[in-house]
Amino acid sequence: MVPSKREQFGSSFSFIMAVAGSAIGLGNIWRFPYMVGEHGGGAFIVAYLVCCLFIAVPCFVCESVIGRRGRSDVYGSFDRLAPGSKWKWMGFWSALAAFIIVAYYCVVGGWSLDFLVRSLSGHLSQGNPDGASVVFGKMATATVEPLVMYVVFLVATAVIVMGGIKKGIERFTKITTPMLFVLMVVMAIYSVSLPGSSAGVRYLVHPDFSRLDANGWACALGQAFFSMSLGIGAVLVYSSFMKKENSILAGGLFTAASDTIFAIIAGFAIMPAVFSAGIEPSAGPALVYETLPFIFAKMGVEAPVVSAVMTVIFFLAILAAALTSSISMFEVCIEHMVHRYGWNRKASTLALLGTVLLLGVPCVLSFGPLGGFKIFGMTVFDLCDYVCSNVFMTLGALAFTVFVGWIMKREDVKDELTNGGKLPFSNRAFKPLYFFIRWVVPPAILLIFISNLL
Ligand code: PHE
Repeated sequence: MVPSKREQFGSSFSFIMAVAGSAIGLGNIWRFPYMVGEHGGGAFIVAYLVCCLFIAVPCFVCESVIGRRGRSDVYGSFDRLAPGSKWKWMGFWSALAAFIIVAYYCVVGGWSLDFLVRSLSGHLSQGNPDGASVVFGKMATATVEPLVMYVVFLVATAVIVMGGIKKGIERFTKITTPMLFVLMVVMAIYSVSLPGSSAGVRYLVHPDFSRLDANGWACALGQAFFSMSLGIGAVLVYSSFMKKENSILAGGLFTAASDTIFAIIAGFAIMPAVFSAGIEPSAGPALVYETLPFIFAKMGVEAPVVSAVMTVIFFLAILAAALTSSISMFEVCIEHMVHRYGWNRKASTLALLGTVLLLGVPCVLSFGPLGGFKIFGMTVFDLCDYVCSNVFMTLGALAFTVFVGWIMKREDVKDELTNGGKLPFSNRAFKPLYFFIRWVVPPAILLIFISNLL
């Protein structure tokens, strides 16, 4: 069941880069700003921060504990820690969730690729700012173009996963992730300086709590899980490759901090420009892709060369961020197939690729020809996103937390978190953290989940 010699990340830094690479992605750039727009601006950010720190970080710790102690895929790890129990079925739950997320996440990945191609031809930086926001609508509602981009993005993900993660992607993200940070800061400064942007800044910093209902809290929690890649076993699987000496808690805190800071900077890059361009903040999944062409075209009027170069680098970096996330979802499924069914990596990757397309195609077409096809009032794409972040990830994270808090022995959890007492910070933090994992996190998740259902 458990391979005798499992690979390990070379250092704590490599682990953190891989996990942060998984966390920082389209969730921060594309999903966070429109969630903020749909749920009351600053109020949503406050809810998000609360969920992140008090719920998502403890959940990260739990997933990581299970993965590193179990040293296998989700199914194998549970089977090892609770032999003979039903917990191992979490393996199927996780693989299914990861599968659905890959299917729709790659749609947005494909859009980024499309925008990269457009920026290479100067299409985005040299357009007319006033008409720029319609670029996205034309692209996404078409049939062939987004499908082609989708397939290319999906195949790129598969190729990286097939070849192993460490050499290519690790090296790549060490450069692109910091670069994305710098570019986003530049964009935020530029965006805030646009005429009419102050309404956007106000929208972000003045919380309107009257607009934050139970659904808003559920979405904030869902967004925290989505953004930190929790609840589907991605952190669990990466942690199974982590060295025993490395601190799980430090990994969780660093991931939460970098991921949140990045999302907030992205909010400041996007929201002021949204108001400046006169776009509705509640425009939904299209928001960022309608706003970015506006920013770049506007920049292009004053500084065409700078704008052209920045546009290309920016979309390249977004693409890298999206890929480092999509490979981690893919990896959850592949690990499951390799360990559970004994398939080799290549066959698993090809089989997964074909299956993802079955769900992926309707997701792509949700913005075009299948736009009118609704289930529970949602398009296939929206339904996948809603079900994953509000059901699969939430209940997955709940199960991981209950397992660590109530099923595993306290001393085993402590041993894993503190490396047998050798990590002073984790030693000190253990007691309150464990209390949280048992008594605060599961009821909080349940409360938010149920009040949203009602
Ligand atoms: N965290 C990623 C993002 O923000 C998405 C993701 C979800 C990755 C779940 C892996 C697992 O884009």
